[in-house]
Amino acid sequence: MNTKVEASLNKQINAEEHASRLYFAMGAWCDRNGFAGSAKYLYAHAEEERMHMIKLVNYINERGGTVVIDALPKPQNDWSEILNVFKDVLAHEQKITEMINAMFEVCMQEKDYLTSNFLQWYIQEQVEEESGARTILDKLTLAGNTQGGLFHFDKEMMTMAAASAANQSVQ
Ligand code: FEO
Repeated sequence: MNTKVEASLNKQINAEEHASRLYFAMGAWCDRNGFAGSAKYLYAHAEEERMHMIKLVNYINERGGTVVIDALPKPQNDWSEILNVFKDVLAHEQKITEMINAMFEVCMQEKDYLTSNFLQWYIQEQVEEESGARTILDKLTLAGNTQGGLFHFDKEMMTMAAASAANQSVQ
C-alpha cells in the first residue's frame, strides 16, 4: 500500500476514535444534566464513529497495509450548556470533513484511485453528519433557553436516537 495514503488513513483511524470518545463524553454530560434523549443520541453517535474507525482498519488490512492504533488526546468533558455541546458536534464534524478532504487529496496526488473510491462513502457520510448537526442546532435555537423548550427538544432527541438505532439494525 502507498505509504502516504496508509499514513493518512491511520491518522483518520485516530480521528474517528477520538470523535467516538468525544461524543461519549458529551453523552455522559447530557445524561448527568438531565438530557436523557440527547445522551442516547450521542452514545449512538459514538458507536457510529467507532464503526467509521473499524471500516478504515478493515480497508487497510484488506489492502495489505499496516494499521497503527495510536495514542488519543483526552476529550473535553464539560460544557456550560447543551447548545455548546451541539455547537461542538458541528465544529467537530466540519473538522472531520476537512480531514477527509485532505485524505482524498493525498489519494489523488498518489494516484491511488481504489482508495479514493473507498473514501466516497466517507465523503457522502459527512454531508449527512454536518446536515444532522445543523438540524439539531436549529431545533435547539427554536427551543430557546426555557425549561419547556428544552424538555421538548430532548424528547425529540430520544425519538431521533430510537430511529437511528432502528436504521442501524436494518443495515
Ligand atoms: Fe466519522 Fe462523524 O465522522
